[in-house]
Amino acid sequence: MRVVLVVVLALGMVASERPLECRQERHRPQIHFSVPSNWLNDPNGMVYYDGEYHLHYQYHPYSTQWGPMHWGHAVSTDLVTWTDLPISLYPDELGMIFSGSAVVDLDNSTGLQKDSVQPIVAIFTHANAGPQQQSIAYSLNKARDFVKYENNPVVPNPGVGDFRDPKVIRYNDKWVMVLAVGNKVDFFGSSDLKTWEFLSDFGIDPSQGSHAGVWECPDLVRIQHNGFYHWVLLVSINPGGPNGGSVTQYFIGSFDGKEFHSNQMDALWMDWGEDNYAAVSFSNEPKGRTLVMGWMNNWAYANELPTRSEGFNGQMTLPRELNLATVDGALRLISSLPEEFGKLRDPSQVFQLPLLKEIPPNGFYNVSEEIGFKSGLVEVDLAFNMVGIEGTSSIAICFVNRQRQEVCTGYDHERPVDKELFMNRELSGDLRAIGGLRRATAGRVKKDNIITFKIVMDLSAAEVFIDNGLTVFTALFFPDEPLDTLEIRHHAGSAESRVTLINGSVQGLRSMYNC
Ligand SMILES: *[C@@H]1O[C@H](CO)[C@@H](O)[C@H](O)[C@H]1NC(C)=O
Ligand SMILES: *[C@@H]1O[C@H](CO)[C@@H](O)[C@H](O)[C@H]1NC(C)=O
Ligand SMILES: *[C@@H]1O[C@H](CO)[C@@H](O)[C@H](O)[C@H]1NC(C)=O
Repeated sequence: MRVVLVVVLALGMVASERPLECRQERHRPQIHFSVPSNWLNDPNGMVYYDGEYHLHYQYHPYSTQWGPMHWGHAVSTDLVTWTDLPISLYPDELGMIFSGSAVVDLDNSTGLQKDSVQPIVAIFTHANAGPQQQSIAYSLNKARDFVKYENNPVVPNPGVGDFRDPKVIRYNDKWVMVLAVGNKVDFFGSSDLKTWEFLSDFGIDPSQGSHAGVWECPDLVRIQHNGFYHWVLLVSINPGGPNGGSVTQYFIGSFDGKEFHSNQMDALWMDWGEDNYAAVSFSNEPKGRTLVMGWMNNWAYANELPTRSEGFNGQMTLPRELNLATVDGALRLISSLPEEFGKLRDPSQVFQLPLLKEIPPNGFYNVSEEIGFKSGLVEVDLAFNMVGIEGTSSIAICFVNRQRQEVCTGYDHERPVDKELFMNRELSGDLRAIGGLRRATAGRVKKDNIITFKIVMDLSAAEVFIDNGLTVFTALFFPDEPLDTLEIRHHAGSAESRVTLINGSVQGLRSMYNC
């Protein structure tokens, strides 16, 4: 009997776990995870177990616009290619399945474990049938099937409107939940994931961080830096982003298992682009890294993206590793690509640019002509020395197509010091959805002459990491054809303005699909 069951399960998995087929809609991301069809928003239930990274997501399976929320599911062994799996959680009598997290119960704290396979427990918000409240579901077969717990909810609503997005972490031998409550967060503790007690809250002081919008999708991560552990609270807020709409802020502080403390008063942003929201981390990451993915979109326009006419609406950022750096004595979050990203690099498409190349004043350097290569799927690394940059001097790194549609990022000295870095999509093609949110800016954290850019270009999105990830811009765009040529422009605002490309490379990328 037991043997028969195993065979049936194995066949079931073969039938539903197809490798990625070819997807070539005009704006289909080729290196970012995107929803196969219909609607996706926040990443949920991100957890590693037994060789697999699980990515769940807010999913509306019947429309390219937001609607009754399910948990969609995909899995990856390498963080770059993803296999779509059946829906993990459907709405029920307690409501829709809003955002949440998942953990592996390594110590059978729930008492649910039956054999050698450890339970994966999803902790999520039930919403819209009654008040928002937290519930759990568990899987005893590596997240292939979830069973909702019989005594849901496990954290009932205390009488507040916004009470959602539980992220659960392990702290010593206890579970800790961080939950968004209005525009603060609450912490709860549990020993078995089923009964929870209130521990503390953070964010009461309206002058600490940004309270311009509702707080959502918090995460509490521990990051080592110079031999010390720091706790970083990620909090997405909507609206209120420095460049409009949805955005993720962070607080650096300490956590003792009960309370989070931070002396930081300024709002700090994990990403300054318009299109990175609700980023949270993978639980149980085997190398101890803080790996996050965000929803690459913005509530200001998410329901109207042009990809709706291609049958899908929703994609995630690349997985990113978060670390800390000290700049002028202050701690800052830095973002980088995990080593797994290297799998997308095509070894036959590596181009080194000449060293110490002068970018002509009031002219441009046609990088695509230099390397004899055009592609809309590239990773570009550039380091510049800027000397005598004054007045209206600027550097713009632009990705352009034959119709002269373009997306540019760079440094513009003419702008105020808190707006010198930019990501500009005002000429990027179809602007109907993105409306007024066309040009994102940020202050440069580093102040020296050497500035570096890493730019990852997909067909309808770019991720830009400036000064080794101290400032990040993520942006969507919808050109009529791929932005496949690269130009570096130097506007000289003074006779002394000199921009030297110290070094640079263009790396062609492979699609994650089998086309
Ligand atoms: C997990 O705990 C439950 C309750 O204590 C127990 O019945 C079960 O045998 C345990 N599972 C394993 C694999 O030890
Ligand atoms: C840059 O070079 C590419 C490749 O040769 C070419 O297609 C493109 O037109 C050039 N751009 C400009 C502005 O000359
Ligand atoms: C390019 O130059 C920058 C700045 O000097 C340096 O930090 C970086 O390591 C160099 N990159 C390569 C690949 O040599």
